[in-house]
Amino acid sequence: MTKYTIPQELINKFRAPEFPGSFFLSFEGIEGAGKSTQIAKLKDYLEHKNYRVLVLREPGGTFFGERLREAVLNAKTELHPLAEAHLFASSRAQLLTEVTLKELAVPNTVVIYDRYLDSSIAYQGIARGLGVKEILDIHSIFPLTLVPHLTIYLKITPEVSEKRQKIRNAPKDYFESRGIKFYESLVEGYDLAAEMFKDRILKLDANKNFSELELEIQDAVTKLLSSKPKTWNNDLET
Ligand code: TYD
Repeated sequence: MTKYTIPQELINKFRAPEFPGSFFLSFEGIEGAGKSTQIAKLKDYLEHKNYRVLVLREPGGTFFGERLREAVLNAKTELHPLAEAHLFASSRAQLLTEVTLKELAVPNTVVIYDRYLDSSIAYQGIARGLGVKEILDIHSIFPLTLVPHLTIYLKITPEVSEKRQKIRNAPKDYFESRGIKFYESLVEGYDLAAEMFKDRILKLDANKNFSELELEIQDAVTKLLSSKPKTWNNDLET
């Protein structure tokens, strides 16, 4: 891990948005980790508790973001990792300002992201070799400094990912045909993110069955929702 030492002041720049009664969550993991299934189940659970729940995906979620999604995932030539990182960051900045911050301002809202900053750390930072500090630097200006209150990292092995992808048999996009080594470095990247952002990222073993995992997620989220918010931060843009 030491070769990726990141200055603590850089890590400290990343903070959750502070809107009374509203929460920002994200799900992370490699292909086949079960993000979509668990997000759908959590959405149901929270709606039964009378929260307004919004699920957003990255890249995408806005008109501009969906065009960027097309451009990256259907790329026919290899993109430079720096170009990839900036494309994802652009889509992210747009989604944050156009949708997320406005929605979180409505009390009693939970915004759930399917992938966020940690995908950039794992995919562009480690697997595509750009470097983790480089990713954090790109994100060090508001609104990209905003991070979720809680990130659920569904960890599976590259072998389980491969098996689940075979069962799905869906066409492969720009990132999905890169082989086991790529998936191993993604796991390395996610583990590193989980270590850097210990307080935010909850790493769960997602090789096991989906319903057991569902309860663990519900538990963690319930704890977060019932926790007293820290002092509200009114100088988000500084
Ligand atoms: P998607 O079809 O949403 O993947 P999944 O269903 O696995 O979530 O495609 C998003 C792809 O983009 C996925 O392979 C991960 C990649 N990605 C990055 O490389 N960097 C990022 O910052 C984000 C958000 C996604």
